[in-house]
Amino acid sequence: MHLNAVPIQERPETVAFAWPVTGKLHRDLRVDGYLAEKVADREVFELVQDSIGWRVTDDQWHVVSKEVVSNSMVAIFHAGSPVAIACGLSRPSDWTELAWVAVAPAHRGMGIGKMVCGAVVAGLLEDGRSKIYGSTQDERLSAIKIYLDIGFYPLYRKEKVERWESICQKLGIPFSPSSWRWQPDA
Ligand SMILES: CC(C)(COP(=O)(O)OP(=O)(O)OC[C@H]1O[C@@H](n2cnc3c(N)ncnc32)[C@H](O)[C@@H]1OP(=O)(O)O)[C@@H](O)C(=O)NCCC(=O)NCCS
Repeated sequence: MHLNAVPIQERPETVAFAWPVTGKLHRDLRVDGYLAEKVADREVFELVQDSIGWRVTDDQWHVVSKEVVSNSMVAIFHAGSPVAIACGLSRPSDWTELAWVAVAPAHRGMGIGKMVCGAVVAGLLEDGRSKIYGSTQDERLSAIKIYLDIGFYPLYRKEKVERWESICQKLGIPFSPSSWRWQPDA
């Protein structure tokens, strides 16, 4: 299946991105003083989501624990406390959605978002799960920057081309559909 045919339920307010078929993580994303660890417990998940103002309900945790790809949840610890989290959620046809990406406000802008997303993707690739996608709102520029920097491609969606142009302009990066293998006429 072509990358742009990723069968996701995309919301009108989001743009989507996916991992290229032969994608590799671009570089070592570790940050000094921060430790990545696989986790599976609600407490760590909740602590980080809470720090960004997301109160995790019982229903949400129930869905996460049901959908999370085994061994894919990663937390970043600093001085023994969790400060970032992300995970992969199981989707149809062996797709995995990179989701619940969160970095505590005091630890932003230092590469921790890239570190946690990179660790989740690396783990998924090691486990043979290379069909990975995600989506986020256009205005979440730091999140979009992370996904593009670590190697995801924007997905072609006819109605969102201009929005990607605008996002690239705001991020100061080239708008390069051909390198993302967009096939508008396909
Ligand atoms: C999005 C989020 C995870 C980013 O975490 P972070 O640790 O600050 O991210 P990083 O430091 O790894 O990278 C952010 C990048 O965006 C860039 N950036 C930040 N704000 C930006 C802006 N307004 N315009 C352009 N680039 C911006 C940073 O310079 C950095 O890029 P660089 O490494 O080239 O300098 C964090 O802000 C967060 O938890 N937000 C709330 C939840 C959320 O939005 N989750 C993701 C989408 S659902």
